[in-house]
Amino acid sequence: MPEFLKKALARGLTPGNVASWCTLEAMRRFGVLVGTLRLRAKAKLFGVKLGAGCTAHGPVGLMRWPGSAIVIGRGCSFISSWRRATAAAIGHPVRLRTFAPGARIEIGDGCQFTGASITCRSTAIAFGRNVLVGPGAVVTDSDFHKAWPVETRAVAPGMEADRPVSIGDGAWIGMHAIVLKGVAIGEGAVIGAGSVVTRDVPAFAVACGSPARVVSRRDAQGRRLDREGRQEADAHEPHACPHA
Ligand SMILES: CC(C)(COP(=O)(O)OP(=O)(O)OC[C@H]1O[C@@H](n2cnc3c(N)ncnc32)[C@H](O)[C@@H]1OP(=O)(O)O)[C@@H](O)C(=O)NCCC(=O)NCCS
Repeated sequence: MPEFLKKALARGLTPGNVASWCTLEAMRRFGVLVGTLRLRAKAKLFGVKLGAGCTAHGPVGLMRWPGSAIVIGRGCSFISSWRRATAAAIGHPVRLRTFAPGARIEIGDGCQFTGASITCRSTAIAFGRNVLVGPGAVVTDSDFHKAWPVETRAVAPGMEADRPVSIGDGAWIGMHAIVLKGVAIGEGAVIGAGSVVTRDVPAFAVACGSPARVVSRRDAQGRRLDREGRQEADAHEPHACPHA
């Protein structure tokens, strides 16, 4: 008996497991094929620049205002389907939207968006390379209404308060986080699930809560640093999730 079959049997290979795995795999491949074709067609239709090797699972909302730009780097992945998402929190498709002439969404190579919503009204939202954005996360450069005076709140756009947002290489925005106008998130930083980011977050920091505060600082390898930026004495090596 071949070695791989022995191993499979040892791991509980049954006809039910085989059928289940084949079905899931077929659904995954079909979902990516259809989603990617749709994404490419939409990108052409809406004038979105899409890099080579980008994939989508499920629909991706693209709306580019005339005179604005959405530029997506190479090898990005857009996940809008709960069949593909690892988290149970996916509530809507990935959406990328510009709202006024001159607005610009720029996405670096290798980014991954899962059910996230990016709305750039009039300035710029820039993602570096390999940024991860989790389910339900919202990133925006605008409040969309001028708060005062109350009488005109519903109709006054308050465009003058819009501010650009930048998210550094390798940053990770957790599920249902909200990144508000004018924020710069540093390289490799982590934003905790459900956080509301109102101020800049330094590189390799973990920021959580509402408003998001830095709860720990790391070096590029994930080793914990103290307040002065030195490696903590009892810092232990981070261990990788076996399913990552
Ligand atoms: C941000 C995160 C990765 C940090 O994990 P961690 O390094 O193990 O964090 P810790 O457990 O050391 O937490 C440090 C402190 O921050 C707090 N904290 C962690 N995550 C938080 C969050 N999302 N909101 C508020 N506070 C949070 C902890 O309670 C702790 O506070 P304490 O020191 O007062 O006890 C994790 O908390 C998180 O949010 N995971 C969700 C990731 C996600 O969204 N995945 C979806 C797929 S993309």
